[in-house]
Amino acid sequence: MKLISSTKAILRVAFFTSLFLSCNSNAAPPDAVAGKAKAQTCFTCHGENGIGIAPEIPNLAAQPALSITYQLIQFRGQQRKGGAMEALAMPLSDQDMRDIAAYYAFLPPPPAKSGNAEKIAKGQQISSAQYCNSCHGAQLQGQKHIARLAGQSSEYIVTQLKNIRSGSRVDMDGTMGSAARGLSDEDIEAIAAYAASLN
Ligand code: HEC
Ligand code: HEC
Repeated sequence: MKLISSTKAILRVAFFTSLFLSCNSNAAPPDAVAGKAKAQTCFTCHGENGIGIAPEIPNLAAQPALSITYQLIQFRGQQRKGGAMEALAMPLSDQDMRDIAAYYAFLPPPPAKSGNAEKIAKGQQISSAQYCNSCHGAQLQGQKHIARLAGQSSEYIVTQLKNIRSGSRVDMDGTMGSAARGLSDEDIEAIAAYAASLN
């Protein structure tokens, strides 16, 4: 008797759990622990600590979760291409992306890199004159769907700004395209040095 009633209780819990999950199948909260397990294949390039293993591989540590998720969606949909990321994003579900994004977003930010002081000062000046920080944050730390630039690899930033300027990387709403259009190669180099120097 006792066994039967406890089995019933378990079944009832299981029923309500499955009901809850089915009602919320698209809205399960992001799970950073599950994200770490799902991110094992990413570690070879982006590191377990979210620091890219080579200059052309972006740091993901402390990137806003929404920014990571949106970029993964764009890779999966082939709107953005590069670094074999289209193929790597292909098998990921929306929930996988949210979980992986939660994992990387909660890691400590990449360390600041020193560089040419004059270049860094020029980059800071351009960044404020062009209002880069109005979207990317006062310290270029990123927010919501907008990428963190602080502590990012300068080589990676240079490549992305040139791709966005030329239109070979299409941005989601066109705002970043117009921000990049007026920048010279020199401006881009200076901004990248400035961003890398921030923590
Ligand atoms: C073989 C190396 C490699 C692996 C493995 C890899 N990536 Fe990448 N990833 C790259 C490179 C290179 C880029 C830059 C692509 C470009 O040039 O646009 C990138 C870009 C990204 C970006 C865009 C970052 C930004 O700031 O816009 C995200 C997000 C990302 N990867 C997540 C992942 C996730 C999640 C995984 C695991 C499922 C993964 N990557 C596995 C090499 C890799
Ligand atoms: C109106 C808001 C806005 C302004 C202003 C803006 N950005 Fe962006 N930026 C974005 C958004 C949104 C993205 C993501 C674009 C996408 O991939 O869809 C982005 C992406 C980027 C990226 C790619 C980051 C990565 O990790 O791949 C770089 C680099 C960048 N911005 C630099 C700049 C610089 C430098 C300036 C100033 C000259 C600037 N942005 C001004 C909104 C803005």
